[in-house]
Amino acid sequence: MNNIKKLIQQQFTNEHVSSINTTQNNIQNTDQSVSSTNTDNIETPSPEKNTDNTEDEVEDPMDNIKKPSTKDTKAKAKTQEPAPVFIPPVPTDPQLLELHNTCLTCKSCELCDSALNLVFGDGNPKAQLMVIGEAPGADEDEQGRPFVGRAGQLLIKLLNKYGVQREDIFIANILKHRPPNNRNPLSSEISACTPFLRKQIEIIQPKLLITLGNFSSQYILETKTGITKIRGVVQESSYGMVMPTLHPSAIIRGAYPVDLLEKDVVTALQYIGYDVTLED
Ligand code: URA
Repeated sequence: MNNIKKLIQQQFTNEHVSSINTTQNNIQNTDQSVSSTNTDNIETPSPEKNTDNTEDEVEDPMDNIKKPSTKDTKAKAKTQEPAPVFIPPVPTDPQLLELHNTCLTCKSCELCDSALNLVFGDGNPKAQLMVIGEAPGADEDEQGRPFVGRAGQLLIKLLNKYGVQREDIFIANILKHRPPNNRNPLSSEISACTPFLRKQIEIIQPKLLITLGNFSSQYILETKTGITKIRGVVQESSYGMVMPTLHPSAIIRGAYPVDLLEKDVVTALQYIGYDVTLED
């Protein structure tokens, strides 16, 4: 209903109410002083409302103007809290910085148009271990950082359990921009984006890559074999040594037990020289 219709209905209702409720004699006058901008807040008086004389709604000529309850005000205050401002990380390493800046201006596919941020990857530029996921999700897109959502939290928790901090490793993805609605990467997007990943790996020179899930593992290992068949064994690729393993999102979805991912993470850490054994 448009504002004018509302106002007309309100006027009519007010007249009606004033004839049955002498305490509201001033309503019409008051209504005339209500500006057009706050007519949206005007509610048609209802029998319930008229009997609902709570602390917030004391009798007043303006009774037919809904006042926010304490609850409403609180709710509003909550929604009006400023949204956190995320500043995507910028590499400190000069070579990575140069590559990052090239990625910032990349227009090789359309993902840069729909994504909020470039998710270049971040971590230790001299990491022994580099983790490669599929593509940024919503949280990563918002923050410009890879693996900050639930999947990332699971991965980091597992690494922490064996003494590895997020800052010790480097994390990146096959794609550097989020595909809309988290759809699978297109082969054209993978072709457009992976030269940047190759360059990143060349700069960082990790001892081992951990590839998470089918997209990343199959791309790096140049295979079509599914992750469940190739996971858990350190193997050679044109990008260097690789431990393909399950994607933590698949664990969160309940597709596989977390033990398998943990086992592979421990094998990977042992490969790069960590003195760790699988814990209960
Ligand atoms: N899943 C990925 O593959 N990469 C991320 O960065 C986050 C979730």
